[in-house]
Amino acid sequence: MSAARKKAAARRPGRFIVLEGLDGAGTTTQVERLAAALRAEGHSVLTTREPSDGPVGTMIRQALTGRLGLPGGAGPLAPETLALLFAADRTDHLTARVLPALAAGQIVLCDRYVLSSLAYQGASLPMEWVEAVNACAVSPDLTLFVGVAPEVAARRRKARGGAAELFEADEAQRRIAKQYVAAIRRREKHERIVHIDGEQGIEAVTAASLVEIRKLLARKR
Ligand SMILES: Nc1ncnc2c1ncn2[C@@H]1O[C@H](COP(=O)(O)OP(=O)(O)OP(=O)(O)O)[C@@H](O)[C@H]1O
Ligand SMILES: [Mg+2]
Repeated sequence: MSAARKKAAARRPGRFIVLEGLDGAGTTTQVERLAAALRAEGHSVLTTREPSDGPVGTMIRQALTGRLGLPGGAGPLAPETLALLFAADRTDHLTARVLPALAAGQIVLCDRYVLSSLAYQGASLPMEWVEAVNACAVSPDLTLFVGVAPEVAARRRKARGGAAELFEADEAQRRIAKQYVAAIRRREKHERIVHIDGEQGIEAVTAASLVEIRKLLARKR
């Protein structure tokens, strides 16, 4: 490891782990299960999510559910606006929650992060631009991509119930699935991203994820 990266890691004694996947892949289910398993082993764990519970994250949730849009009912927010809001929410989320927890030595399990922006906003905008507006976001120590076919994710969303959000139409999800592949290819040169088979049963997905997390925890830096 380079001297600069060693110094950064020393300021960040915790571990930053992100879960990613299509809507309905099971990331929220797994964040909770992984946190419970790690806590049972004595680890101190923070679970969190993006969009965050901060002011910008709250606006994003309103936009995703159609409660916030352009003035005069002129339609949803522009894709660029949404991409910038996600990036802005991220810097607040890092400052308020993630970085303090990492400095305190906690394991942070985060439901979605930069890869989601690249996949979702990158579906309608140049991925380089989305990456550029996210340049301030620190890299995770590990990203677990919970992979499921768009049809499986759609079935699970349907079974879960609730109103469909922006991006949840089947056609959009198929495009986002392709964007995830492109985004992972782009980022995996610099970051550790592991594909987990999300079509297995819930317990098997947790077990496969824990194998990867234990490898990370065992690694010295
Ligand atoms: N491995 C699995 N096998 C079968 N069902 C699953 C599995 N994982 C999750 N589910 C179910 O699928 C539904 C969606 O899971 P969950 O809410 O965790 O997905 P998500 O990835 O967080 O979705 P979103 O991105 O929309 O928040 C839930 O009802 C959950 O119980
Ligand atoms: Mg979820």
